[in-house]
Amino acid sequence: MAKTRSRNIFVCTSCGAQSPKWQGRCNECGEWNTLQEEVVVQDKGRGWVSKETTSSEVVALSTSDKADARPFQRISTGISEFDRTLGGGVVPGSFILLGGDPGIGKSTLLLQMTKGIGDQNLKVLYVSGEESVQQTLMRARRLKTVSPNTFIASESNLDIIIELAKKMTPDVLIVDSIQTVYLSELQSAPGTVSQVRECSHKLMNLAKNSQTAVFLIGHVTKDGHIAGPKTLEHMVDTVLSFEGDLHHHYRILRSLKNRFGTTNELGVFQMQSGGLQEVTNPSELFLEERSENPQGSAVLASMEGSRVILCEVQSLTTPSPLPMPRRNTIGFDLQRTHLILAVLDKHLDLHLANRDVFVNIVGGLKINEPAVDLAVAASLISSDWNSDMDAKMCLFGEIGLTGEVRGVVQADQRVKEAHKLGFTKFIVPFANKKHVADLGPQLLKSVQFIKSIKELPRFLFPTGATNRKSHKGKEAVKSLDLEF
Ligand code: TYD
Ligand code: MG
Repeated sequence: MAKTRSRNIFVCTSCGAQSPKWQGRCNECGEWNTLQEEVVVQDKGRGWVSKETTSSEVVALSTSDKADARPFQRISTGISEFDRTLGGGVVPGSFILLGGDPGIGKSTLLLQMTKGIGDQNLKVLYVSGEESVQQTLMRARRLKTVSPNTFIASESNLDIIIELAKKMTPDVLIVDSIQTVYLSELQSAPGTVSQVRECSHKLMNLAKNSQTAVFLIGHVTKDGHIAGPKTLEHMVDTVLSFEGDLHHHYRILRSLKNRFGTTNELGVFQMQSGGLQEVTNPSELFLEERSENPQGSAVLASMEGSRVILCEVQSLTTPSPLPMPRRNTIGFDLQRTHLILAVLDKHLDLHLANRDVFVNIVGGLKINEPAVDLAVAASLISSDWNSDMDAKMCLFGEIGLTGEVRGVVQADQRVKEAHKLGFTKFIVPFANKKHVADLGPQLLKSVQFIKSIKELPRFLFPTGATNRKSHKGKEAVKSLDLEF
């Protein structure tokens, strides 16, 4: 057998950069004294890899569970919105990072989860580096999440936490938060890049070498990224983000990375005096404050993972005092807004070059799927033409650069869900006609199929009555009148 070749390299504990020789300062991240020696072995196909990452355990790939030494049974959190976001529950031995702004409810969510897990006779160890045992106990009692299977500790020394976990062998370990724990052998303060990286590494090893699922709480920096090195996000199996507006009561749990499920699923909660409540029908929540005669507001049926969520898209266009008018979006991609504005300008003569444009997805939702385009375009037209939308209209579709409206996935599900919530008019891409054929003749009567953005005003305002004013000057008003 050929001899395995090995050599020594130096790896930065802060950013993971590699260097063939020792240096006082990492060339990549500029941190001092972070390079540590590591032995790497040559592996055909993979190049030079760390000795530790080459596993000697070999298991035959098989569809039968018998061949797998460790059965893959998920643990329910007792909170169905949470289970959904995780892809069906917690995988034993997985390593999960929960990020979010301070005060958004991360500790509350995980504390509430301990009861659901404890009720299944599974052990949870909740270690807080931020609050005393007394404070956590008080909060748990107030939230009524007390379970005899939950153990609480207040500790920030990671070696002690790991010792505790090894002694107690909990099914779930929660560390609140990664920014407050530290390893005493490192000189740097808790929360620094090297501490976060090393502590996470140790916790990852704990999770992988035992059946304990480890939840890590992490804070988010001002620009919305999880504080700490990017390597942290690579290390964990799942990255969850808990989002929401501190001034509103709804919270959205989103999965940004998931080795054990899809990343489209989201969970919706409401923060109330008794803690977080699940919202089982989020569409009702997102539409509850919609006005009767909505101007500049369109309703979109959006696919979030396996479920349809109806949400409101609001737009506002106003004359701009600025040489370069503002374009602001919340919950929607700004670049896509520019694209839609350009298409509207070219195909519908919407002259918005001198107007400020604001687009908002109501309820703190972030919509990434292109199906939102048509609703954004409709709300922009309605605002710019000062014309009310039909409050019972729901629409979706992607807009192409040539003004064509393109089909989207699961059109039938979207129409069905919107119909259930009382919507009676649907604008659906023509390409989806064959996909919605099964909806039945009655429901199909309320569906209009659109091929091009040029047809949109006709569908939005079928009588042709709009309060459109020209932005070009009085003399242009006539030529801008709608032609039906
Ligand atoms: P917390 O879970 O401590 O947030 P994080 O761990 O993300 O920093 O939640 C803190 C906020 O939640 C706090 O400002 C008040 C609010 N809250 C309630 O409204 N109701 C409750 O029952 C609880 C426990 C908290
Ligand atoms: Mg907290």
